Amino acid sequence: MSVTYGPASFAEPDDIRALGRALATLLRAGDLVVLTGDLGAGKTTLTQGIGAGLRVRGVVTSPTFVIARVHPSMGDGPDLVHVDAYRLADVADLDDLDLDSSVEESVTVVEWGEGLAEDLGDSHLAITLAADPDSEVRRVTLTPVGPRWAGAGARAALAALVTGDVDDSASGDRTRAAAAGEGSP
Ligand SMILES: Nc1ncnc2c1ncn2[C@@H]1O[C@H](COP(=O)(O)OP(=O)(O)OP(=O)(O)O)[C@@H](O)[C@H]1O
Ligand SMILES: [Mg+2]
Repeated sequence: MSVTYGPASFAEPDDIRALGRALATLLRAGDLVVLTGDLGAGKTTLTQGIGAGLRVRGVVTSPTFVIARVHPSMGDGPDLVHVDAYRLADVADLDDLDLDSSVEESVTVVEWGEGLAEDLGDSHLAITLAADPDSEVRRVTLTPVGPRWAGAGARAALAALVTGDVDDSASGDRTRAAAAGEGSP
């Protein structure tokens, strides 16, 4: 049973980046963010905002051809590990990448990670982005999973990021990340 915050609408790419910057203020080493959305939904754009907020080095672009890219912190904060799991069969592959920065000491953002990245830790933040069919608007929902996000303070901060309606959805129709994880033995 999960709680989902949103959806909230974001009209411009810069609005999505601003969301990412705001989210970054909540993120700390060890956090896992799983991004779900179709091609061009704005997953990489959101990650650009997260990278800006974390003040990491390098331009955040689609990591499609490298699978994962480490953006080192320019300050005292965690590095950003940006993963594109589109062609990744399972999380063992991610371990095999032998990244310079470990999941424990980084913020890890995984595009297309639904159903596999969850195994990286006991907690993650699932974010879905959906393009409006008639406009450039993106609709974003946040679903916190696990003890990392269980506290009232963390939840209030997440809810504030998507100032739209807060939906305590017991039906789970927006919690596809949780549902996708149930199939594995
Ligand atoms: N409101 C909006 N929010 C985010 N992106 C938008 C918006 N309106 C237009 N765009 C455009 O949509 C595109 C989103 O591309 P982006 O690479 O972030 O998507 P993606 O979900 O990472 O795709 P992929 O699955 O190919 O990795 C960008 O070209 C961006 O400029
Ligand atoms: Mg992308």
